[in-house]
Amino acid sequence: MDSGAEQIVVRRSGPLEGEITVPGAKNSVLKLMAASLLVDGVTTLTNVPAIADVAIMGDLLDAIGVSSARHPKDPTTLVLTHHGVITPVAPYELVERIRASINVLGPLLTRYGEVRLSLPGGDDFGSRPIDMHLSGLEAMGATFELHHGYLEARAERLHGAKITFEFPSVGATENLLTAAVFAKGTTVIDNAAREPEIGDLCEFLVAMGADIEGIGSSTLVIHGVERDSLRPVTHEIVPDRIQAATYIAAAAVTGGEITLRNARAEHMEMLIRRFVDMGLQITPQTQGIAVFAPKRLRSVDVATLPYPGIATDYKPLIVTMLAVADGVGIVTENLYPGRFRYVEELMRLGADISTDGHHAVVRGVARLSGAPVKAPDIRAGAALVVAGLVAEGETVITGVDHIDRGYDDLVGRLAILGADITRR
Ligand code: EPU
Repeated sequence: MDSGAEQIVVRRSGPLEGEITVPGAKNSVLKLMAASLLVDGVTTLTNVPAIADVAIMGDLLDAIGVSSARHPKDPTTLVLTHHGVITPVAPYELVERIRASINVLGPLLTRYGEVRLSLPGGDDFGSRPIDMHLSGLEAMGATFELHHGYLEARAERLHGAKITFEFPSVGATENLLTAAVFAKGTTVIDNAAREPEIGDLCEFLVAMGADIEGIGSSTLVIHGVERDSLRPVTHEIVPDRIQAATYIAAAAVTGGEITLRNARAEHMEMLIRRFVDMGLQITPQTQGIAVFAPKRLRSVDVATLPYPGIATDYKPLIVTMLAVADGVGIVTENLYPGRFRYVEELMRLGADISTDGHHAVVRGVARLSGAPVKAPDIRAGAALVVAGLVAEGETVITGVDHIDRGYDDLVGRLAILGADITRR
């Protein structure tokens, strides 16, 4: 059945208990897949999550000329084969399905000198322009024309430039970083985004032979190397901090005690601090983290910010936790003005939330009550599933296709932890 027609059914569940492994990060694997366009031969990615967006990015790469296939014996391994013949066009039907498709722009332009890219779509939370991607590439010598919804980019050979972002955009940092790999001379990206997934991309590029300094910092210095000088590598995708946070939230609202293998506490520092303020005990372990939740969470105020701040992607989970916490919490969104739409769905479950522009005031209630709800996007969808765990009776979530874009078997993993959850 088409996952768009499927439903997730959650019933109020007791404290979640047990151990699960956190899959690889969506927002890393998609970018590394796009960056594989920089090199001929066979690139192998391991710890690849089973999510719909990987398949969509696979279709996009296939249309360009790079085939991708899961390893028959290990489906978490993705093998990308670049035969050296490509069509540098990213068609509308694929680009409109995921925003990350814009990540093919940097690699294609720097290696082949031209790209036709349909303007991107993706999650529907407010307008998400790409002006910083374009002005950065222009500073490196690219020219752009818009014809019939397609951006036509050209640059015989990009050159190094000093680019200072007014805002640390994740996608713009990634596109300029990959473009700079083959640019003539040195590119400096100031106020670069510092998300762990960008660190993962840098390490992947360096392993292939790129010359990058400042990895993990907000100033990236890329010394261009010759086109066709990279070699394909095998790389393990960084664990997904947002999926990890989802299971922490699930344990938190049910008063549970769980262990998350592979979760990286160092990638979630600010969030963990906030969670501790809410009463959770979170203990980093050699290969994961242990989570122990109190009977009832305490309310706190939270503001989203670029990394290392608290990511906007955690916000629906935090709002859900606050919805059943003791007290009142104010959540401030600093990245996407329109990203409070799921609040109406939470209110249908009995949450007491009022929103005003960038702010949501969440008054904790003792318990939610189950109802049919619709997932508006990936993260909000997962948050509604978490809410269903503390809602009396049955919560039926539709729009499951959104959740499948970024979650590798959310239902199965929650069931392992003892949640009363099924998919039909
Ligand atoms: N922005 C501009 N101009 C630009 C680029 C960005 O105005 O040229 C604005 C956007 O409109 C937005 C804000 O800056 O308001 C943040 O954009 P950014 O470029 O940092 O985000 P992104 O690359 O489009 C990635 C993740 C998002 C995550 C954001 C912020 C991927 C595929 N997506 O998006 O993740 O919310 O960073 O951390 O990596 C998700 O996984 O569900 C998701 C939406």
